[in-house]
Amino acid sequence: MDRWLGRVALVTGASVGIGAACVRNLVRHGIKVVACARNLEQLQALKTELASQPGSVHPIRCDVTKEEDILSMFAEIKKTPELGGVDICINNAGCGHNAPLLDGDTKMWRNMLEVNVLGVAICTREAIRSMRERMVDDGQIIYISSLSGHRIYSSPPSHFYSATKHAVKAMLEGVRNELRDLKSHIRVAAISPGYVETEFSIRLNEGNQEKVDEIFKSLKAIQPEEIAEHVEFILKAPPHVQVHDILLRPTEQIS
Ligand SMILES: NC(=O)c1ccc[n+]([C@@H]2O[C@H](COP(=O)([O-])OP(=O)(O)OC[C@H]3O[C@@H](n4cnc5c(N)ncnc54)[C@H](OP(=O)(O)O)[C@@H]3O)[C@@H](O)[C@H]2O)c1
Repeated sequence: MDRWLGRVALVTGASVGIGAACVRNLVRHGIKVVACARNLEQLQALKTELASQPGSVHPIRCDVTKEEDILSMFAEIKKTPELGGVDICINNAGCGHNAPLLDGDTKMWRNMLEVNVLGVAICTREAIRSMRERMVDDGQIIYISSLSGHRIYSSPPSHFYSATKHAVKAMLEGVRNELRDLKSHIRVAAISPGYVETEFSIRLNEGNQEKVDEIFKSLKAIQPEEIAEHVEFILKAPPHVQVHDILLRPTEQIS
């Protein structure tokens, strides 16, 4: 991780769960992390918690469904002397709503599309712009995707979510090809997990704690820190190796 010392990573959806675990690990490795989400208080708490670590946390409130929020976040990063731009972009912010394809709420579909697809596309475009204008040729984009971007699990609440994560898979290969056309060595990768023990399932099941407890009692889920370790694995890959997509399933998970 030495080559990343003192460099800048953006983590979206950094307030809790996988995003917060990624921030903790990156800061431990001496990276300056721009942590964004809608809940600024949780980001400030993360900054306080990690104050004695070699890296640093720069909290920015950003709703990734709003392009103006994303653009002003990148402008703020650019004009902050100790940051200047982004070298690593971890597209982690994501959500799933219970919205089946036959009777789901359009608002929920739109939110999933905006967070999981459009927000990811805009952050990726802006991060690569930031790298290229500073002649950074070894940058890294990481998508936190899902097993739902690889297989269709027959469960109506997750079908639209699955469509958004399949879009992430398509964007990954598209961005890789566009970078290659430019003869850039900026790399793009994804991590596609099954069940991870975070607030995600609580949000998907609309706060139904009993149902969530049942899921996590039925199997040993992946922990967010274990996803952060795979982010580290991607960042450690030698320059000629593009880690494309890491699929991780709890050993006891069925599909
Ligand atoms: N947990 C799982 O089982 C699982 C499995 C496969 C893939 N994933 C993927 O992993 C990623 C992280 O999820 P998680 O498990 O850590 O879930 P989580 O605990 O629910 O965290 C989601 C994060 O996304 C942020 N977020 C949601 N909407 C946002 C918006 N409009 N603008 C900015 N930030 C927003 C949330 O922050 P605020 O609410 O503060 O904005 C939060 O920090 C997601 O992309 C998810 O699809 C999760």
